[in-house]
Amino acid sequence: MIAPAKMKSLCRPYWNEVVSREPVARLWRRDHTLWKPSPVEIANRLGWLDLPTSMRGGAAELKQFAAQGLERGFQDVVLLGMGGSSLCAEVLRLAFPPREGFPKLHVLDSTVPAAIERVSRAADLARTLFLVSSKSGGTTEVMSNYRYFRERVRELKGAEAGGQFVAITDDGTSLAKLAAAEGFWRTFVNPADLGGRYSVLSYFGLTPAALIGVEVGHFLASGRQMARLCGVEAPLEENPGAWLGLVAGCLARGGRDKLTIITSPSLGGFGLWAEQLVAESTGKEGRGIVPIAHEPFGPPEAYGADRLFAYVRLSDDDNDTCDRHAQALNDAGFPVIASELKKPSDLAGEFFRWEFAIALAGACLGVNPFDQPNVEESKKNTKAVLESYEKSGSLPALRDEGNFSEFIQSARPGDYLALMAFADETPELRQAFEDLRRRLLLERRLPTTLGYGPRFLHSTGQLHKGGAANGLFVQFTAEPEADIPIPGSPYGFGALAAAQAIGDLQSLRMHQRRAIRVHAGKGQNLAARVRSLLDKT
Ligand code: PA5
Repeated sequence: MIAPAKMKSLCRPYWNEVVSREPVARLWRRDHTLWKPSPVEIANRLGWLDLPTSMRGGAAELKQFAAQGLERGFQDVVLLGMGGSSLCAEVLRLAFPPREGFPKLHVLDSTVPAAIERVSRAADLARTLFLVSSKSGGTTEVMSNYRYFRERVRELKGAEAGGQFVAITDDGTSLAKLAAAEGFWRTFVNPADLGGRYSVLSYFGLTPAALIGVEVGHFLASGRQMARLCGVEAPLEENPGAWLGLVAGCLARGGRDKLTIITSPSLGGFGLWAEQLVAESTGKEGRGIVPIAHEPFGPPEAYGADRLFAYVRLSDDDNDTCDRHAQALNDAGFPVIASELKKPSDLAGEFFRWEFAIALAGACLGVNPFDQPNVEESKKNTKAVLESYEKSGSLPALRDEGNFSEFIQSARPGDYLALMAFADETPELRQAFEDLRRRLLLERRLPTTLGYGPRFLHSTGQLHKGGAANGLFVQFTAEPEADIPIPGSPYGFGALAAAQAIGDLQSLRMHQRRAIRVHAGKGQNLAARVRSLLDKT
């Protein structure tokens, strides 16, 4: 891969200035002035630096808890959470295939009725353990899903229902209180000095890991090993976290802001997690790094000078295609930073490395990587839409807004296209989006991202509104087949998901972002609508 000296020269003129600020030493010293003069939402967000060590004690506790879960006969685990409280579980679910004798993990981070239906059908609800996972304890999606599944289990188990629920949250949250009041089996109280996306090596990631049979002690050991490698003693080019973060930060300042993530097939979930970490941490104050994950591969000519590539490779995986792609990019002179995981449990180290990197990239960009100032806006707009729905009984109609073909043609060099689908991910839809993304890459050299709503609102949604104005946004919506009521709520999941889509489009427009909508009306198939756009690129 590209030699360190050449990489540093690409990082000019920012490299020397950034390095002279001693970012690695100051990060380990927890010096908040590395990012901002005020310690607010920084000083109390650095506990992740200690997790590989401080959670060691939790490993035995979690092993015992998982064994008790097996004794109770749980065959499925459904994690209800959003963003930083769910994506770690999604990575693990995909990287560690179901093991004989352990429950199967499902992750629900959606309000779209079809997604809720799918999970309800896939799990045997009478023998399912639900992890209600929320740092704040008040996230609408999570609590709506809890109410729904609580009612479903109550219908099966009556007063015993609480025994199938476990909370993971901070001390004293409304969820912690609810768990006590509604007889949850257990509550895991997480260290409070962590932000959502930096919490993967806390109970948020380790609890689902233990339940599916991951040896938490070994897992954390790879995190400790990486923390050592990221220490102050190592030269920057040998410090895996610092190198990735300082290079990504300096290059982004110079306009090479598309951090394109390539992963071995079994690590597909890692792209989703890293995408959130990068976008939500750096995309603010009119700047940021745009993570490009799961983009179909093209030849080197398809990529512009705005690309940096990170290849996360798992030894012994089916790596031929990824290896050839990374080699071709390297040969063509693109900067590629590669890392090698010997086994899936090395993921803990890779999580730490990226957290370390993105904290430093935030310092290069002069932003606070631990807050998410623009996420709240879509939530407020959603709330307003739902309040007016409660009064009037109807939502603003979802319909096509804007012309896709003209929209695509308006793309300028340095732009990216964000595809945002408020839908459940089906194989058919996945394929349609993949074809569209490939076409846009090959024919227009346009980098694309793809996010499913409302998941992406807790991820790239921050960058969309808070980052640079180089995004083109296409929202995809579909009429739900049938709505699902949310117990105790005047609206159902279908209305909630629609309000979230409407609220987010409003937020994008409030920020003068270029945004259109493609809607599949009653009787129309969303995947077919996406495919119909292939001719309009
Ligand atoms: O990184 C973050 O802070 C967010 O993505 C949160 O993790 C997400 O919004 C979920 O929040 P909570 O865990 O409070 O439900």
